[in-house]
Amino acid sequence: APAELRELLLSKIADVPDYPQAGVVFKDITPLLADPDAFGKLTDALAGVCQEFGATKIVALEARGFILAAPVAVKAGVGFVPVRKAGKLPGATLGQSYALEYGHATIEIHADALAPGDRVLVIDDVLATGGTAEASLTLIRRSGAEVAGVAVLLELGFLDGREKLAAGLDGAPLEAL
Ligand code: PRP
Repeated sequence: APAELRELLLSKIADVPDYPQAGVVFKDITPLLADPDAFGKLTDALAGVCQEFGATKIVALEARGFILAAPVAVKAGVGFVPVRKAGKLPGATLGQSYALEYGHATIEIHADALAPGDRVLVIDDVLATGGTAEASLTLIRRSGAEVAGVAVLLELGFLDGREKLAAGLDGAPLEAL
């Protein structure tokens, strides 16, 4: 992102030490969400990434990814497809388990939400270890769709998520604003 936008976004993300457990510094985006100017500029920038990557669908990750991606899907004029934690989607699902920075989880997508011909952008708030984003890329490919790329607000570079995602991206771009 341009330096001015990057500074604005960083100024609206709070560091919360020892949350949700000792030794983890949690990145709290709620100050950003509470600022309509910053939130608007963030979602404009993500809609620009969606267009630049030629995406025709957005997949977003529960829960904070949903907050960012829903306005982006409307602005970009593409469909929104939720990836949820296990047991939350009512229809037939595809599921994928993965390791988090703290704990594990299984995520699911509706089995008929994507199809061959869809070009999918994954949006989330934070790329940490990359486990969540990697699992979502697996679900997109298992659905028969193409990966257009991944876009996140914040990349925690010291956790090497970008390296972990390289195989799943298979040459598709990763944008961290
Ligand atoms: C956080 C964050 C990303 C993920 C990043 O979600 O919103 O989805 O972790 O971590 P990773 O790159 O190490 O996989 P969390 O599971 O805490 O869920 P939430 O958004 O529902 O709070």
